[in-house]
Amino acid sequence: MRYRTLLPLLLLAVACKDRDAGPDAPIPTVVNVEDVHSYARPHEVRVRHVSLDLTPDFTSKKLKGTARLTIERSELADSIVLDIKGLAITSVKQPGGGPLPFRAGIDDSIKGRPLVVDLPAQGDTIVIEYETGAGAEAVQWLEPSQTAGGKLPFLFTQGQAILTRTWVPTQDSPGIRQTYDARIHVPLGMRAVMSAELLKQDGEPGPNNTTTYSFKLDHPVPPYLIALAVGDLEFREIGSRSGVWAEPSVVDKAANEFAEVEQMIGAAEKLYGPYRWGRYDILVLPPSFPFGGMENPRLTFATPTVLAGDRSLVSLIAHELAHSWSGNLVTNATWSDFWLNEGFTTYIESRIMEELRGKDYADMLRSLGRQSLDETMADLGATSPDTRLHIDLAGRNPDDGMTDIAYEKGAGFLQTVEAAVGRDKLDAFLRKYFDEHAFQPMTSEVFVAYMNANLFKGNEDAATRVNAQQWIFEPGLPQNLPVITPVRFTAVDAQVAAFQAGTSPDSLVTTDWSTQEWLRFLRALPDTMTSAQMTALDAKFNFTNTGNSEILFVWLQHAIHSNYPPAMPALDHFLTSQGRRKFVAPLYQTMMNSATHREHARTLYAKARAGYHSVTRNTVDGIVK
Ligand code: BES
Ligand code: ZN
Repeated sequence: MRYRTLLPLLLLAVACKDRDAGPDAPIPTVVNVEDVHSYARPHEVRVRHVSLDLTPDFTSKKLKGTARLTIERSELADSIVLDIKGLAITSVKQPGGGPLPFRAGIDDSIKGRPLVVDLPAQGDTIVIEYETGAGAEAVQWLEPSQTAGGKLPFLFTQGQAILTRTWVPTQDSPGIRQTYDARIHVPLGMRAVMSAELLKQDGEPGPNNTTTYSFKLDHPVPPYLIALAVGDLEFREIGSRSGVWAEPSVVDKAANEFAEVEQMIGAAEKLYGPYRWGRYDILVLPPSFPFGGMENPRLTFATPTVLAGDRSLVSLIAHELAHSWSGNLVTNATWSDFWLNEGFTTYIESRIMEELRGKDYADMLRSLGRQSLDETMADLGATSPDTRLHIDLAGRNPDDGMTDIAYEKGAGFLQTVEAAVGRDKLDAFLRKYFDEHAFQPMTSEVFVAYMNANLFKGNEDAATRVNAQQWIFEPGLPQNLPVITPVRFTAVDAQVAAFQAGTSPDSLVTTDWSTQEWLRFLRALPDTMTSAQMTALDAKFNFTNTGNSEILFVWLQHAIHSNYPPAMPALDHFLTSQGRRKFVAPLYQTMMNSATHREHARTLYAKARAGYHSVTRNTVDGIVK
């Protein structure tokens, strides 16, 4: 039964294109949806398992070794198409057998190249010997000086959306789930961690003064979730199934910051069913990590800028944890369906935080998110096709679709459904949705069909009030979005008004404000303030020296707009000491928009660029010119 034919599955894929199916039509399963960002032809042959044997070479900044792929093929298939970008392929063989002919197709600047391997008449395994190219976009190689310890180098990968192909030759499409295992040979004194189960805690002696760490992940995942980091890493346990990895000088602070993680897992499980991945650990990366967090299974990757010291930014962990259901269990079939990952996750993030900190707190998070949504909507224009949840990305970098629309309009859609059917019904529905589609891809069309059959059936009124079709497939922000008015923001807004009317910061009432109240306050201030206003605010609240990255970020925007020189050293430091794109890109943009700061932006970027991950560089390259 090695060669099960996959062709019937192709026919099912066609069925799921029928978005207008009524509530009684059978709900199709999502299989082999066309992905414009992958060359793979999964209906002919698909990769089921990836087995990596890799050695990072910190001198040449390359990963070298082999990927052994286990495939499933239709009887007719005589070749397999993989996705690669920048990889140098040395050979392709059958295990222990002869070489297999292979060729790489034309290079596309976004997608990379197809690697076509001719298959033998029989056999379900191919072994690819390769090394990564110079500047492999997924991988960042850090000099010791870019780490907290300053002594050893570091490397980490970032696969989402389509960067895994720059370090693993496989079918790099989120609809093609694969299990994986790996052996990573690292220099003595360093440690490898992955989004998988660590097989031997202490590693084993490897070739040439290396230690070998072995991993396996038995759950099939989309390839963007294959992740690796190597560095001087220590572990602290938090709970029975959770802990934190970080450099030695960071690990205790991190363990304290994330102490509530067991509670978060419990809250998520209560709402959406069992956590199915075994452990939930968090890896705190060096500051160049380009994202806030990345939901790599069993091991969330996180920026150190989340370590505020007071647990005030840990909703980011709730977010990455939520992906253990929305995203990692049920996965966007293509990047056009990215909102199924991020919109659901943003909604669940706020539900987890509500369990932990209460409704008033969660409403502040929701409201801050809504504010970002309004800004993005205004930037893009409410008729822009990119304000649709299901977005067209043909010929584009999937990054273009990764805006607040997916996150916050997506969350807004679920808030609207919640208002229409009630929380209990929505919770039960989501739980069933995750159970019934666990470890499967999902499209917007199939989701709508499933929702019609399992949530709206017998409640057509609610379906009409929600109008999912408009929400998901049309641009703009529908009017039925529930209004959020956090009680605690009313008081903040009153203080903003007082300040604008001339009240001195000394007389403002800000006792016991949380980070979220400060963010509301800072965002509500006028973009440009007088130097007297900036000085008075800073004298009272010391924003320039805050250790809270989110607060600093908003403050620095004001400092640029208002030409406030005392904050400029802090701005330079912030832009050269961390590389989180969400912070870095808008700050450069604000500087470039200002004749006063433009030249400085160029000088600073020329200095800082080499320290940023390719994800951040690619974005900022388009801003600082
Ligand atoms: N999966 C995303 C990060 C991502 C998105 C990587 C698109 C590559 C392409 C992650 O879950 C995320 O959304 N991170 C956010 C933090 C979150 C609290 C909104 C981030 O990094 O800012
Ligand atoms: Zn996310």
